[in-house]
Amino acid sequence: MSRLQVVSGKGGTGKTTVAAALALALATEGKRTLLVEVEGRQGIAQLFETEALPYEERKIAVAPGGGEVYALAIDPELALLDYLQMFYKLGSAGRALRKLGAIDFATTIAPGVRDVLLTGKACEAVRRKDKNGRFVYDYVVMDAPPTGRITRFLNVNDEVAGLAKIGPIHNQAQAVMRVLKSSETAVHLVTLLEEMPVQETADGIAELRSARLPVGRVIVNMVRPQVLDAAGLELVAAVPRSSVARALSSAGLGGARRGGHAERLVDPLLAQAEEYAERYTLETEQRAALADLDAPLHELPLLTAGMDLAGLYALARELRGQGVS
Ligand SMILES: Nc1ncnc2c1ncn2[C@@H]1O[C@H](COP(=O)(O)OP(=O)(O)O)[C@@H](O)[C@H]1O
Ligand SMILES: [Mg+2]
Repeated sequence: MSRLQVVSGKGGTGKTTVAAALALALATEGKRTLLVEVEGRQGIAQLFETEALPYEERKIAVAPGGGEVYALAIDPELALLDYLQMFYKLGSAGRALRKLGAIDFATTIAPGVRDVLLTGKACEAVRRKDKNGRFVYDYVVMDAPPTGRITRFLNVNDEVAGLAKIGPIHNQAQAVMRVLKSSETAVHLVTLLEEMPVQETADGIAELRSARLPVGRVIVNMVRPQVLDAAGLELVAAVPRSSVARALSSAGLGGARRGGHAERLVDPLLAQAEEYAERYTLETEQRAALADLDAPLHELPLLTAGMDLAGLYALARELRGQGVS
């Protein structure tokens, strides 16, 4: 199992939710995971019902079996200070630099620097060891930028490595790219069973593969329950109205009389069946398109009661059950 798990997907498909559920799933059986957010929107804090995350790793959840989930919202400015500190031992000079606005300059102007800092921080967490030489985190899960930007985001270290031919930045970029392009990393894509996100998933996978970045799993989120299969739908389409009315009456829904309650239920019921049949056809097409992508496929249910912590744990259990962790 890759130790760096990157979660991307079209915006709004549930990247943050799936990344959090995955971090929980990977943390079971005493494992420790770090969930990192790189777009600074505090989605993770919201999901775990805790206050805004500082730029500091902190425990936010305990997984079944005693595992732990830590979280970190990476701030690019502070990551740059970290980085300068690590290589140049800047100390208070780093703080002075920040006051001068040099860091704003570096993170907004220098191409790709911001992204290198973010991926660099995640890779540092992946490789970090304790005094006994053991990895501090068994897994790092990244709530990453959306599909349209993920390849550039992860590949940017290559660009930087090309710019800086020698020195610590060069070495750092090389080291980060080694992690990102190895089997230590897996890039998962979250999608819905709808045409647009499925198309984006296909494009995203093609881009990742051509950049030689390791594609992980495709996770279909918010899947609605399948009420009828193709055979069932055919039956529904063929059944006469009168039989539907009779069936409703004998099920105790409304009176048996013509024009009674049951009769009035027939049209809405048949309309619903038709709507469901249309959705079934669309979803079948999208499932087939996803199956062509040649990546392991998983499905997570739409939680109709809305998302809360209990729902998040339920999604984590589902991922475990499907062998994702
Ligand atoms: N399986 C699910 N069932 C129900 N609601 C979900 C599910 N997954 C995500 N959501 C909800 O969908 C919305 C978008 O999810 P989020 O994880 O923030 O997406 P993204 O990070 O891709 O923008 C949120 O309101 C979230 O609670
Ligand atoms: Mg998000």
